[in-house]
Amino acid sequence: MKVSFAAKRPEGAYALAVPVRSEDMLHERLADLDEAARTLAARSAEAQRFEREVGAIAETFIDEGQTARRLLLVGYGTKRNEPAIHERVGGALTARLLTSGETRLVVDATGLDGRSAARLAFGAAARSWRHDVYRTRLGRKQQPTLTEVIIVGADAGAEAEWTRERAVLAGLDLTRRLVTEPANILYPETFVERCREALEGLGVEIEVLDEKAMAKLGMGALLGVGQGSVRPPRLLAMRWNGADASKRNVAFVGKGITFDTGGISIKPAQGMEAMKWDMGGAGAVAGTMLALATRKARANVVGVCVLAENMPDGNAQRPGDIVTSMSGQTIEVINTDAEGRLVLADAMTWVQRQHKPEVMVDLATLTGAMIISLGHEYAGLFANDDGLADRLAQAGLQSGDKLWRLPMGDAYDKIMDSPIADMKNSAGREGGSITAACFLGRFVEEGVKWAHLDVAGTVWADKPAHLYDKGATGFGVALLDRYIADNHEG
Ligand code: BES
Ligand code: MN
Ligand code: ZN
Repeated sequence: MKVSFAAKRPEGAYALAVPVRSEDMLHERLADLDEAARTLAARSAEAQRFEREVGAIAETFIDEGQTARRLLLVGYGTKRNEPAIHERVGGALTARLLTSGETRLVVDATGLDGRSAARLAFGAAARSWRHDVYRTRLGRKQQPTLTEVIIVGADAGAEAEWTRERAVLAGLDLTRRLVTEPANILYPETFVERCREALEGLGVEIEVLDEKAMAKLGMGALLGVGQGSVRPPRLLAMRWNGADASKRNVAFVGKGITFDTGGISIKPAQGMEAMKWDMGGAGAVAGTMLALATRKARANVVGVCVLAENMPDGNAQRPGDIVTSMSGQTIEVINTDAEGRLVLADAMTWVQRQHKPEVMVDLATLTGAMIISLGHEYAGLFANDDGLADRLAQAGLQSGDKLWRLPMGDAYDKIMDSPIADMKNSAGREGGSITAACFLGRFVEEGVKWAHLDVAGTVWADKPAHLYDKGATGFGVALLDRYIADNHEG
């Protein structure tokens, strides 16, 4: 989506959107139009039961000389500081117009500050994202027509703010593409290639570990998961140094299971195709690194994607196998389907030893139990530090990628003890997301502030929402970008 900012409405064909708050006088917001158009718009809004709810739209065609102009009144609701309200309004406009036949959208942003106008544009662009590369028979009317958004009359500063939003959009696009691609196309090696291409020339240092390097480092937990697949595992580290070396690193670690069959503890056939997006955490980390590097964030951040395919095979690991992780701790693999925590364990140890982060945040589609507890609205947040948990939750609220904290503690942690090894990787269904977090907690080193985000319910959507259509949501990119901007760039 092309986005631009202008002082006045352009010439030619376009749909015109006019935001209205509950307290606005409609005829004042429409002062730009002639009397007949104003009256028509007001009457048709009433006929459509338009009550200015956030993102609600009333549509009218007005006569503007040569053209029948499509006019959209879009609601802004009553609460001024509702989080992510501008994004929602922008997204609602795109959702309405994407395949409408209109090619350009002009938004009358008179009275909006620059930041808000840029956020509206972000929402409009984010909601236009589609992945049509595998559709060879898309009918004419199913094809998107809207390609351009012009924001008119916003306060100065909108364009500067847009530069930042555009970087986040680039990240969102990468994440959604990675999450959407099927597992025959996207596997550990091609995931790495995609990231290399996307980050090319931006100054991100890339390091990739193959199995040989993993074996040398003693990453037995990660290798155990990968050994059942003909697609070899990879660990991808992307390093963005936007601040001087005195500033401590922030580490992001993403679970990147490019397909999760469950392994020998195989999953039921029903719905298994969803497990192509079991790399949503890694996808979010990659997209975040692209966003940070694109906008030249003044922070030192390392993003790690731990990539493997979990398959059943003659060489696959078995339930009961005991593996030794890079940390030296041993793990009894009770269930080969609890593979995410195994790969994350070694990735977390590696990044802590290699990059000495002050803060480490992992993102993982870790447990089905997460969807049972929080559904699809919030991702689960677990942390060993209250300050970090609060800062992440706040970034979640601001970005729209919402987080809800769950407890941890010794009583839960104890459940992961094994009678034969240091721990087991699975302990039954009760509190499944919490015991998984406790497992990961055993790999956090002294003094590191750590948070775990279980994004199982939020990286993929079965129905459209404000900022995305059905499919990959891009969850995590706006969140982590905001977290860095608000806490590590001062
Ligand atoms: N990738 C799954 C979790 C998942 C399930 C994410 C459904 C999104 C939708 C994970 O690897 C897994 O299989 N977890 C098991 C853990 C259990 C064996 C302890 C689960 O949740 O059933
Ligand atoms: Mn699994
Ligand atoms: Zn998994």
